[in-house]
Amino acid sequence: MSDPLLSVQSAEVDIDGSRILRGVTLEVRPNEVVALMGRNGVGKTTTLRALMGLRPLRSGVMTLAGTSLVGLPTDARARAGLGYVPQGRDIFPHLTVEENLRISLVVHGVKGSAARAALDEVYTLFPILKQFVARKGGVLSGGQQQQLAIGRALLTKPKLLLLDEPTEGIQPSIIEEIGDTLRKLRASGRLSILLVEQYVDFCRAVADRFYAMDRGAVTISGPIADLTDEVVKEHLQV
Ligand SMILES: Nc1ncnc2c1ncn2[C@@H]1O[C@H](COP(=O)(O)OP(=O)(O)OP(=O)(O)O)[C@@H](O)[C@H]1O
Ligand SMILES: [Mg+2]
Repeated sequence: MSDPLLSVQSAEVDIDGSRILRGVTLEVRPNEVVALMGRNGVGKTTTLRALMGLRPLRSGVMTLAGTSLVGLPTDARARAGLGYVPQGRDIFPHLTVEENLRISLVVHGVKGSAARAALDEVYTLFPILKQFVARKGGVLSGGQQQQLAIGRALLTKPKLLLLDEPTEGIQPSIIEEIGDTLRKLRASGRLSILLVEQYVDFCRAVADRFYAMDRGAVTISGPIADLTDEVVKEHLQV
């Protein structure tokens, strides 16, 4: 078995004096899609924010390709190979599709022909974005905004893409498109994906393995085939 790309061991996070992560342990291997599941409020987003350096660790270990992330600022984690699509997508509503993408390139210092090539790759992956380059982000549908947010995160060629509930508030036909995109990315062999998601069938369709969290810790994990209806009932349903 290959060395993990991402390794999180016993990660603890406090927010306002409350222990929100109580020792999260998980791994993502190269070229793997891993679902991080769990009911509302169990700490999924906090786990991703801690990975991005947006929440400090109280204790624990986080490594990417063997290098510790602990204490690194967010921009250094992005340079180390983490791409992040936050819950709710966070695109700029008053900027056009292309401006939304270019801002990320500017932030990461990608210029000239490299910038053009990175944009073209995203447009190839998401033809709808190419069609709507001049539209304002705010007028796109939820699914198009999600594609824009994923495309933006891919511009910096992350080794690991962190996705927070990409299907939330998106209609079924577009969910399928996003699933196709994730499978395409996986098939390209270029990156791994840690997918925070509550939509069980979506996880079954795209993930290789799963972790289920409850109250700040992982309670069960395994290959996605082990995500049976019984497991869902016991660990994931409200
Ligand atoms: N800024 C904050 N201030 C106070 N408490 C917070 C804050 N952010 C998160 N929490 C608390 O931490 C816990 C975990 O939140 P988190 O957002 O990680 O959950 P989640 O699993 O992503 O939930 P959801 O599925 O609803 O997005 C919750 O109990 C939440 O109330
Ligand atoms: Mg969340």
